[in-house]
Amino acid sequence: MRKRIYYFTGTGNSLRTAIKIAERLGDAELVSMRTEPDEVSAEDCDVIGFVYPVYHWTVPEHVVKFVEGLKINPNAYIFAVANPSFICGFACEKMAELIRAKGAELSLADVVHCVANYVIVYPPFPSPKFMVPRMEKKAAKIAGDIANRLTKAYPKAGAITRRKMKKFMGPYLELQKYADYPFTVSDACIGCGLCAKVCQCKNIELSDGKPAFLHHCMNCMACVTSCPKRAIGYEITAGDRELLNAAGRKTSIVKLMGLPKKRKLYRNPYVSVQDLTKDTIEIH
Ligand SMILES: Cc1cc2nc3c(=O)[nH]c(=O)nc-3n(C[C@H](O)[C@H](O)[C@H](O)COP(=O)(O)O)c2cc1C
Ligand code: SF4
Ligand code: SF4
Repeated sequence: MRKRIYYFTGTGNSLRTAIKIAERLGDAELVSMRTEPDEVSAEDCDVIGFVYPVYHWTVPEHVVKFVEGLKINPNAYIFAVANPSFICGFACEKMAELIRAKGAELSLADVVHCVANYVIVYPPFPSPKFMVPRMEKKAAKIAGDIANRLTKAYPKAGAITRRKMKKFMGPYLELQKYADYPFTVSDACIGCGLCAKVCQCKNIELSDGKPAFLHHCMNCMACVTSCPKRAIGYEITAGDRELLNAAGRKTSIVKLMGLPKKRKLYRNPYVSVQDLTKDTIEIH
């Protein structure tokens, strides 16, 4: 029986959840969604999982595109686990919709609430010391449900989220294409290339020994939090602001964005930078 879990992760929370599920399932393969979907088809799998963070109350666009491009076995046991901080929104129902478009059904979808990792907007919270043990517990519970092939209705967006999605998140989603414009690279950069290796979207190339951002960024925070020299910053210049405002009306989140030098960064304590560079991980 072939078991495969596809994951997208910037700071390791989703990868940690995926690892815990794979450990409980045994003999499972983890595949990063930075791979090309046509190279990692799930047509031969009997258990198929999707594990991902929540961005802007829904499934990250990179994950949507990956799942759309993936071939699956429609008769498999298929599950999804969203890893938001507080607002899961449409992240389960959107995945259900993507799977349904492939002629299959989600057997189970669930949620692990995690440390909020959008460090160019806010410091990580709630405190990892408080939150990580809770995340471990919830992931273990879901892993047990999946190992027992439980079927369960997925959580849906609440009435307020449903009503406010377009107003709050619509403009912000429009700005996604400019997400990496404000990245800066300081003289501390040693050209090690780690930022390119951890990037979940293949959005970084080294050019003259410095990272160049290719404008299909999801703001996953992997490069920011993995740089050994803390050389990557985020500063919205007057030019960027003009672009951002022109693109999508002013949003309160954009006003908050920036990365002060001393702000705390975050990576899940069970996940190493090396783990973030991997395309596949075998769990026995
Ligand atoms: C660009 C971005 C948008 C986010 N939007 C949401 C959101 O809408 N709701 C939420 O609860 N958390 C949101 N978060 C927090 C992440 O979903 C959360 O911290 C997640 O566990 C990170 O997973 P990872 O460590 O696997 O990357 C956002 C984070 C980022 C970077
Ligand atoms: S990880 Fe940091 S030091 Fe290494 S190339 Fe990227 S920005 Fe430079
Ligand atoms: S450039 Fe950085 S923030 Fe953007 S997708 Fe790549 S690793 Fe994530």
